[in-house]
Amino acid sequence: MELRPEAAGTIVLSILVLLLSCSTEAHNITRILAKFPECSTFNHYLTLTHLAPEINTRQTITVCAVDNAGMADLLSKQLSIYAIKNVLSFHVLLDYFGAKKLHQITNGTALAATMFQATGSAPGSSGFVNITDLSGGKVGFGAEDNGGNLDATFVKSLEEIPYNISVIQISNILPSPEAEAPTPGPSQMNLTAMMSAHGCKVFAETLLTSDAEKTFDDNVDGGLTVFCPADDAFKNFLPKYKNLTAAGKQAVLEYHGVPVYQSLSTLKSNNGLMNTLATDGANKYDFTVQNDGEAVTLKTKIVTVKITGTLLDQQPLAIFTIDKVLLPEELFKAAPTPAPAPAPTADALSPKSAKAKGFVPADFVRL
Ligand SMILES: *[C@@H]1O[C@H](CO)[C@@H](O)[C@H](O)[C@H]1NC(C)=O
Ligand SMILES: *[C@@H]1O[C@H](CO)[C@@H](O)[C@H](O)[C@H]1NC(C)=O
Ligand SMILES: *[C@@H]1O[C@H](CO)[C@@H](O)[C@H](O)[C@H]1NC(C)=O
Ligand SMILES: *[C@@H]1O[C@H](CO)[C@@H](O)[C@H](O)[C@H]1NC(C)=O
Ligand SMILES: *[C@@H]1O[C@H](CO)[C@@H](O)[C@H](O)[C@H]1NC(C)=O
Ligand SMILES: *[C@@H]1O[C@H](CO)[C@@H](O)[C@H](O)[C@H]1NC(C)=O
Repeated sequence: MELRPEAAGTIVLSILVLLLSCSTEAHNITRILAKFPECSTFNHYLTLTHLAPEINTRQTITVCAVDNAGMADLLSKQLSIYAIKNVLSFHVLLDYFGAKKLHQITNGTALAATMFQATGSAPGSSGFVNITDLSGGKVGFGAEDNGGNLDATFVKSLEEIPYNISVIQISNILPSPEAEAPTPGPSQMNLTAMMSAHGCKVFAETLLTSDAEKTFDDNVDGGLTVFCPADDAFKNFLPKYKNLTAAGKQAVLEYHGVPVYQSLSTLKSNNGLMNTLATDGANKYDFTVQNDGEAVTLKTKIVTVKITGTLLDQQPLAIFTIDKVLLPEELFKAAPTPAPAPAPTADALSPKSAKAKGFVPADFVRL
């Protein structure tokens, strides 16, 4: 295998980043659990449900893992990934319980709040776990409102980093009807209602008048990222929008959606061309993602827009707000340059023919 110089550079950079993240990250639950293949399914689902990064940012917590047989029992219930997320978040206690503390609980019993409680979706006290020191050195675990049943027992300590994170194994998943209850996934969310409520009302209302809305809805399940322009920006754009043909209107709206889920951190680490819902064939209706320090910008030949906020980031759907409308070169011309050279013909300026002739007009390079 050949190693291109850029590739070698990337590897050196990756190693550096890895070293840096080792020293700044308090802990990495994925890496801790990777040492225990008997808990690989549990580990895999912490990643799938995006709980792993949430666990990594918290301190003074205890993760109660189960082995692959325990996860198989949970998965056989055929819950949605959102319910599985609730169940697993019920297994992350917001307090530090090492093996020693578990066996020396004051008065022999304690209630621990969980990450499920912290989401706010746990009704009543259903987000609390009862930990009780049983006879014979056993420690029992159960949902608090479970009629006093302690359904699981402590198996062993997997890793203890006092007092940041304790990872323990328990005998099985803690049954909890509340955590297992059906939860609405992104595909049941109303995209336009959500955007309207968060500063993108004009864009959302325009979407509702177009077939583009169906294109957005149809793509949610498979992964969708929406860039919605702020109200002021889209309001100013409306006269231009009204001037477009029906097909042009649909295309410019669909240009604001990308048919894959991209979190902000993915966008930050991936510069390059991105296809949109309006893309139909190669090099059509795409734009370039470019990082600018902490900011992420989206560049078309006409305009550079900045991501200003995250409205929703829950796999498979992400919605970001942007400060300007994304203008595709297929529908809009670049602003005229202040000191134009002898006017090129319209044909020479079109990017398609420029590419065909093997040169790019100055306007397009500069923008
Ligand atoms: C615990 O977390 C803090 C804050 O992130 C960190 O400075 C410290 O090194 C961690 N302790 C251990 C033992 O990793
Ligand atoms: C945690 O560890 C896993 C596996 O080693 C790695 O893929 C991931 O990037 C790490 N996460 C962070 C935030 O460093
Ligand atoms: C332990 O039990 C005693 C006596 O019932 C009580 O006063 C005390 O508050 C309990 N401690 C805890 C941590 O629950
Ligand atoms: C936990 O459950 C046990 C067994 O049902 C019970 O005796 C104990 O009082 C409970 N602990 C708390 C803190 O509610
Ligand atoms: C979504 O919300 C919009 C208001 O933004 C409403 O007009 C539309 O009917 C709703 N769609 C569904 C499927 O509920
Ligand atoms: C609408 O289109 C007409 C004809 O092409 C053009 O003269 C006018 O400037 C356009 N208006 C806007 C707001 O783009």
